[in-house]
Amino acid sequence: MYYIGISAYYHESSVFLTDNNGTNCFLKEESFSRIKGDKNFPKRCLNFLIKRFDLKDENIHFISFYEKPFKSWWEIFYYSIKNPIKNKNFLINHLKYFNKGPIFFFTELSKYINISKKKIVYSSHHLSHCLYGLTVVDNFSEYVYLTCDGVGEGETISAYTINNDYKIKKIWTNFYPNSLGLFYSSITDFLGFEVNEGEFKVMSLSSFGKPRYETELKKIFNIDDFKIEIDYFEFHKNLNKSFSKKLSDMFGEPYLNINEESNFKKYADIACSAQSILEQAMQNVIKQVIKMSGKTKIVLTGGVALNCKMIHNLSKLNIFEELVVPPSPGDSGSAIGAANFAYLNQTKNKTLNLNTILLGPKKEIINERINKDNLFSKISSSDTFIQDAANKLIKGEIIASYYGLTEVGPRSLGNTSILCDAKNTESVNNLNLKIKKREHYQPLAPIVLEEDFEKYFYVNKSIKKNLEWMGCLCDANQKLHENHKSIIHIDGTSRTQLIKDKGTITFKILKELKKRGSDILVNTSFNISKDPVVFDLFDVFVNMKRLNIQFVLLDDGLYQTKNI
Ligand SMILES: [Fe+2]
Repeated sequence: MYYIGISAYYHESSVFLTDNNGTNCFLKEESFSRIKGDKNFPKRCLNFLIKRFDLKDENIHFISFYEKPFKSWWEIFYYSIKNPIKNKNFLINHLKYFNKGPIFFFTELSKYINISKKKIVYSSHHLSHCLYGLTVVDNFSEYVYLTCDGVGEGETISAYTINNDYKIKKIWTNFYPNSLGLFYSSITDFLGFEVNEGEFKVMSLSSFGKPRYETELKKIFNIDDFKIEIDYFEFHKNLNKSFSKKLSDMFGEPYLNINEESNFKKYADIACSAQSILEQAMQNVIKQVIKMSGKTKIVLTGGVALNCKMIHNLSKLNIFEELVVPPSPGDSGSAIGAANFAYLNQTKNKTLNLNTILLGPKKEIINERINKDNLFSKISSSDTFIQDAANKLIKGEIIASYYGLTEVGPRSLGNTSILCDAKNTESVNNLNLKIKKREHYQPLAPIVLEEDFEKYFYVNKSIKKNLEWMGCLCDANQKLHENHKSIIHIDGTSRTQLIKDKGTITFKILKELKKRGSDILVNTSFNISKDPVVFDLFDVFVNMKRLNIQFVLLDDGLYQTKNI
């Protein structure tokens, strides 16, 4: 019997299925549709699961949607009509969205699976974030569960406590439009980056600037009472632009070409100022929830939690005992929270325990109907392929990886990645700038074995757990500066992934690499910029051809693309 959680319509749509007995399957709609951030109803994910697990009414406990559909629609609508209507089109569009959005979730679901309406349950937006967080910690009642995102059901920040009898209590809420997430997204928009994608770039860019605009931004977002000065924004009345003329009057022209030196410097200063506001506001939010809950351990979820630089800087303040950001803290991970809502709904006193990144399907399940021999030639058998891959890496080869279970979350964590030896500066630069075409201010991320971590890095133990899924930055030490400059950010940090699991191929490759004089791999996502990460072997083949990568590590060997 299965529990299924669904997140859809606003950010990347996703579905999570579990039987709480070892069978888990997390899928994103973008993996099938190949549309990055696909937010449509996840019909392709559902069809995959229906076929794979023979889903029907009899073997499903509950299907849970991650928020309350009407409330979510109504809160935005209510805010639009409550205030003077400045943009009729925004309102008309929102009204039209009524019958395309989550309000018709059950109708849409019924097209794909015949299921009793009694088995459909609705969590709420921030509660789903919180309940996903609940699945990744032991001793769950010791934590306060904090969510901070753009907006969900009219809420922008929420805090919950959960006692040992699973009584969930919401202890604090901040309301729309006072949103720290939308504040940061609006700056992202101003700087010419795509909202919901470009926030990572703003974070990276911020390290190159000075907080010259901090005083001005403090008037726009109040870091003490978390209120926004709405006149500087348009996210509440414009579908295509988040900020208003007033912000442009303050900062000058938006969307300038960042590749010109003077623009780069100015935009880096704006990014740095926005990052500083974000960190100061979050520091105050955390102090407030610690005071209200009496708990010093925090689980932080919501899109804002993806800001790994903020997590790192907060850890230096020593204001909490522990801070855990789950691997997928944004809305797509809320499919897992929704499934946990269904599970709690039935059991009343049990939570799913999913303290792992490995919740996606096995590669062999994804590729059941694909004959890999048509696309790839095996060049190394299962006895020697790890040694052979290490030999190639040490010589400077860039190799794709596509093995094991698919990882959950927005970061590639080894199983579906592009890898090279971190010591080889030429390979690292080639991978970053020529193959992935990333911006020069976004260095690639290193992967290191736990036993080697302290040789090169330092992180406060209060956030160390997050390193297993690149959930925070850490400080690079002198040894790293000597030999691995290309993986260090300008502020002396790295977005390191710590490998603990001895059974993984990534672990074994690092061990082999170590015998050959290098002990850090560079890892980046296996995709072309603006495309989703590869999902099946056809995607692997096409992406390798387009990225000009010859070799790929699969579960049973090292392969080379065929010329077809
Ligand atoms: Fe959210």
